Parts: sequence; structure tokens; C-alpha cells
Amino acid sequence: MSKATNIVWHHSAITKTDRRVQNGHGSCVLWFTGLSGSGKSTIANAVSSELYFQGINEYVLDGDNIRHGLNRDLGFSDYDRTENIRRIGEVAKLFIDSGKVVTTAFISPFRSDRDQVRALFEAGEFIEVFVDCPIEICENRDPKQLYEKARRGEIKNFTGIDSPYEAPERPEIIIPSNVLTVDEAVEQIFHYLREHHIL
Ligand code: PPS
Repeated sequence: MSKATNIVWHHSAITKTDRRVQNGHGSCVLWFTGLSGSGKSTIANAVSSELYFQGINEYVLDGDNIRHGLNRDLGFSDYDRTENIRRIGEVAKLFIDSGKVVTTAFISPFRSDRDQVRALFEAGEFIEVFVDCPIEICENRDPKQLYEKARRGEIKNFTGIDSPYEAPERPEIIIPSNVLTVDEAVEQIFHYLREHHIL
């Protein structure tokens, strides 16, 4: 792939700050990370719905959905996962610039990939939400029967089985999703957003 040259960054007339002022709230990314079946998508969607009903400008970027379109050329090799997360980081950055509170639900198994995404943002804009659930429980839930297939060897490079998951070391928020209800998880996240004056 050849790289573009002779390109110049254009600053838009309306800034992120203008959009935040117009919206009456801050913009940030709630970056959910966790094993398949840990509850990332469920909690991210519940947070986004509640934000919407409270009149907050929000959007959800969800792993399975993004892989149907923008990232449909990517699989689950280490390289492809890194590229998947890099692209989503850039998309999240655009959403933050547009003044939204964006929730993302990707396994994002590699610490270095998440740190690269964090580095794209200004302080306080990237909120890492670790959906912490023991793999035994994720495997027991197995909502898409993927663990079952991975155990049978029908899916290769499955996170937690034959592909690693590197848990965050200092996430802003930890959700023990085997202990909390979805409503409690949503409340914990809203508490964080209010405490940090994003809402
Ligand atoms: S990653 O690792 O962040 O690039 O993955 P992500 O884009 O979030 O996609 C994860 C969803 O893809 C399905 N799936 C797999 N997950 C993990 N490993 C393998 N090999 C795999 N193959 C397919 C699965 O439905 C994941 O969704 P969730 O919601 O996490 O269960």
C-alpha cells in the first residue's frame, strides 16, 4: 500500500469546543474492553440509550457491526485486530471532535493497541472501561456458541482460548459484570461522567 503525500491538515471553522458549548455537555469515548460474552455490548448499548434519553449526543461503535462494514476486510489475526482497533480509535476521535459521547464495544485484547488509541486523545477524553468477567462465566453464557466452537477447534485464534487477552492495568472504570446488574453498571458509568463534569 502506498502512502499519500502532499496532504495538508485543514482546521475546521467550528471547533470541538464550539460543539461542546452548543451541546451543553462534554465529549469523550467510553472504551469498553473485555472478553467475548463479558457484557461489553450490552452495557455499552444500555449506557448509550440512557444518554440518548437524557438528551446527550451519543453514538455506539460495536465490534460485530463495524466488522460488517468499515472493517470487513479484517479477521482475527494479531495484525488484523491491531488494525481494527487503530481504525476504531480514529473513528472515535472524529466522533469526539463532533461533540459526542461515544461508546465502543471491542474486545481490544492488546494493551499496546489500547494505549495507542489513548495517545490519540487529550487528557480525560479516553475512558477505558474494563468489563471484568471470569472466562468461565463468559464461556458458560456463550451467547453466540463461539466458545463451544473454539473448544471444538472450529474457530481459531479465539480470545481467551488460543489468543491472549491482556487486561487493563489502570482502567478509569472497572465493571465486575458477573456481580453487577446492567442497571448498576450504567449507574457506575454515569457517576463517573458526572464526577468528571462530562455531563
Ligand atoms: S477485536 O479483538 O477487538 O479485534 O475483536 P472485535 O472487533 O471486538 O470482534 C469480536 C467479535 O467477533 C466475534 N468473533 C471473535 N471474537 C474473538 N476471537 C475470535 N477469533 C472471533 N471470531 C469471531 C465475536 O462475536 C466477538 O463479539 P463479542 O461481542 O466480543 O462476543
